[in-house]
Amino acid sequence: MTRADDADLARAAAILREAAPVLVLTGAGISADSGVPTFRGDGGLWREFRAEELATPGAFARDPRLVWEWYAWRREAVGACEPNAAHLALAAWQARGADVAIATQNVDGLHGLAARRAAGDRTAPGAPGTLLELHGSLFRVRCTVCGRRREHRDAIDASATAALPRCGARGCGGLLRPDVVWFGEALDPGTIERAFALSARAACCLVVGTSAVVHPAASLADSTRGAGGAVIEVNPERTPLTPAAAVSIRAGAADVVPRLVPGPA
Ligand code: OAD
Repeated sequence: MTRADDADLARAAAILREAAPVLVLTGAGISADSGVPTFRGDGGLWREFRAEELATPGAFARDPRLVWEWYAWRREAVGACEPNAAHLALAAWQARGADVAIATQNVDGLHGLAARRAAGDRTAPGAPGTLLELHGSLFRVRCTVCGRRREHRDAIDASATAALPRCGARGCGGLLRPDVVWFGEALDPGTIERAFALSARAACCLVVGTSAVVHPAASLADSTRGAGGAVIEVNPERTPLTPAAAVSIRAGAADVVPRLVPGPA
């Protein structure tokens, strides 16, 4: 892993000490150190399928069992992962009452888990911070008929002999689907609107672990910059956002983020 440059780290930390509000935009790279595979890196395959082949409304319409089998596998794999030092540092920052919102493209639930850990830590007794899950959550389901959403953390058996999960709402019984945004689907309008409102008023957008190629999420950093705010990037690779960043730190999230986040006053 690339080592962060000390001067870059100091510059980024200085910006974050003064900046309020802050919007943190995260992608699969923040969870890489927790063992969750990224989309476009190695390990992004299940059997012979790429995510782009299974995470679509068409794939679910053609073969819901295959898609559920993949999600059952992902839920189990991700369910065994723990938030890493980057998730925990961001959660502790929010729990200290800092004006920091998190918008994540990840569906792994690790920011939420980190927030629950921070809330249980008596050194960090603030209110829960804003967390926008732009692409939904692996641990929520939605009914394809009545649209009802709910948390669902228990294992799902999608093997050939099992019945696929069905809606429990009275008189419905519709097929359930994962409450995630699939390729070709729009993001929840209220959620993305809120994210853009936060990005436009942010003094700094801290972008961690995203290839910044999927829009509209990647445009949030442009929105901060367009409104006069600074962009700080943490990513071992260059991305389309790198040229626009005030500081771009070429290293891993779990190493760098805890060193950037301002400590308790
Ligand atoms: P990608 O897999 O496209 O990119 C992951 C990024 O994380 C890459 O730029 C890596 O260089 C970087 N990275 C890898 N290890 C890292 C580490 N330890 N610390 C920090 N960064 C690291 O994932 P996303 O950008 O999240 O959307 O992908 C965006 C969206 O594309 C996903 O939410 C998904 C997919 O299509 C939907 O499913 C709707």
